[in-house]
Amino acid sequence: GKTTALIVAAGRGERAGGGIPKQYASVAGRAVLAHAIDACMAHGGIDEVRVVIGEGQEALYAQAIEDRSLPSPIIGGAERRLSVLAGLEAIDGERVLIHDAARPFLPAAVIDRLLAALDEAPGAVPVLPVVDTLAQADTALGDIVPRDGVVRVQTPQAFHTHAILAAHRAWDGARPATDDAQIARAAGLSVLPVTGDRLLEKLTYAEDIEAAERRLRATMI
Ligand code: CTP
Ligand code: MG
Repeated sequence: GKTTALIVAAGRGERAGGGIPKQYASVAGRAVLAHAIDACMAHGGIDEVRVVIGEGQEALYAQAIEDRSLPSPIIGGAERRLSVLAGLEAIDGERVLIHDAARPFLPAAVIDRLLAALDEAPGAVPVLPVVDTLAQADTALGDIVPRDGVVRVQTPQAFHTHAILAAHRAWDGARPATDDAQIARAAGLSVLPVTGDRLLEKLTYAEDIEAAERRLRATMI
């Protein structure tokens, strides 16, 4: 069966600011989105890459992908969840890796681990431990939140396509969702954790993009 990478790039990047949404910003000579696309295209276990973009982002998208040969982009929605759902409705294939365009550095080893886990369960996600203390935020610091057994969940998130599509269709649209793992869990799907990677950390603020640029430039010398 076919494995599709579904890259969601339909956000507005409001926390990062800047003239254009962060997924179209250039880092070390390539758009953030193009880094994510290239990592997926370079992996032998991924058969097809589909990108979800925002309405009106067609020109930015065309500029970002340059001469890469890709199927037409899918138009996303007002929330990440709706962008993923639009993508899932548009693809076929047995397995899907749902990935944030805002996580441009995607190690092949993480993809290997996710695809292997999909032989055992309908879902798999990369996770990392929480290393800082967690506390309720308030004017004065609130209660400490125990971090034992708590992990940070990254993307790509890998699923059997029919299972995650059914889970998305069953999700209560009034509930906020930050990722697909929680939508899968709510539908009763088993989701296996695999070891994530610090390189996968999401570019959220302008300083994250600047740090990524500095790091890539340093490794290129
Ligand atoms: N995303 C999307 N459709 C949306 C919102 C987000 O496809 N309606 C994508 C973003 O493009 C990004 C990923 O989901 O690749 C993770 O979202 P986030 O980091 O929150 O990006 P933005 O929503 O663009 O940023 P912000 O929340 O700061 O506006
Ligand atoms: Mg957002």
